[in-house]
Amino acid sequence: PHSSIQNFASSSLSVDTESLQNQIDELATFSDTPAPSVTRILYTDKDVLARRYIKNLMGISGLSVREDAVGNIFGRWDGYEPNLPAVATGSHIDAIPYSGKYDGVVGVLGAIEAINSLKRSGFKPRRSLEIILFTSEEPTRFGIGCLGSRLLAGSEVLVKALQITVDGQNKSFLDAARAAGYAKDQDDLSSVFLRKGSYSAFVELHIEQGPILEEEGISIGIVTAIAAPASIKVEFEGNGGHAGAVLMPNRNDAGLAAAELALAVEKHVLESGSIDTVGTVGILELHPGAINSIPSKSHLEIDTRDIDEQRRNNDPPALSDKSITEAMEAASKELNLPHKLMISRAYHDSLFMARVSPMGMIFIPCYKGYSHKPEEYASHQDIANGVKLKDSRIRSFEDC
Ligand code: GLV
Ligand code: MN
Ligand code: MN
Ligand code: MN
Repeated sequence: PHSSIQNFASSSLSVDTESLQNQIDELATFSDTPAPSVTRILYTDKDVLARRYIKNLMGISGLSVREDAVGNIFGRWDGYEPNLPAVATGSHIDAIPYSGKYDGVVGVLGAIEAINSLKRSGFKPRRSLEIILFTSEEPTRFGIGCLGSRLLAGSEVLVKALQITVDGQNKSFLDAARAAGYAKDQDDLSSVFLRKGSYSAFVELHIEQGPILEEEGISIGIVTAIAAPASIKVEFEGNGGHAGAVLMPNRNDAGLAAAELALAVEKHVLESGSIDTVGTVGILELHPGAINSIPSKSHLEIDTRDIDEQRRNNDPPALSDKSITEAMEAASKELNLPHKLMISRAYHDSLFMARVSPMGMIFIPCYKGYSHKPEEYASHQDIANGVKLKDSRIRSFEDC
């Protein structure tokens, strides 16, 4: 028996929130740090186990499962006109160190439940429906965010870069991928590229990761644009030396240089006067990292975000497709769900899917806007609303 929510206006669609929550909880156990935190890094044992868990669920749902050379996973439900471009949805399951269990996961497990509920309702899709689990949305291991979707979108630059990319332990991307069962010898990474026109629409369901929806009591955020990050790595080198013996005027402290730069980033961002501009130094490492040694090297990584490309640089922001946002508005009304248009300050695989498909994103509220920390939480009702909205959108894109 499952507790289901049955108020879909035009049909008997029901979301099995209990199973969905159990799956979210079970997936969270594939973690390298203790609960309630989740740490699931690309191509680690826990990532491989979590992927197996998802592929198994896809199989139980009757989807045909395929993986590409970097481990993007596709679960397909064939439509009765299988040659039409498919409707796709999905997100990621990798989790940054000490984060929570909803980021990305809601968009993958929620997609499987959306398909299950469509199947339970007797729906038969005209276009094929595809769920995509994207490889490494988070940049944790190799410093490349949205690795899988970036490659799907056809990045030649990334194909080249991946040949020489290594992680913090100097393990190469290709070796790590091979150890996880991907990037086999005969594989060419450009085989991952999607043909343009593969999908008629791509929709991602995600927790908001900000406080607006919860504060305003709104169930659904319809994303109109996704801000894109720019990041930069900086190294300082100094002379190092003995923390007691070297006098202050004679020092050349690489740690203090890093600290000054971090403060300068904050000052610069604040002085931009734009509330949409943010800057973060989330990595700051000192070498040799001993209390009685002046840092001789420092390494920091700066992340900046903006929706205005002029104020920033790197990956361009993406706009949602108007027909998709309009369809989401219509579905929210149909389902009687309060909704609002908003931008995404976090980036998502949708940023890159927008390059190869009309794209849209559905946000649901999350507790206090918490994300990228263990306290991340979204309620059953909010998750169910998101899944239902996705269901009804899937059905409407079927018709176009
Ligand atoms: C993705 O997790 C981001 O940093 O926006
Ligand atoms: Mn994230
Ligand atoms: Mn995410
Ligand atoms: Mn993200």
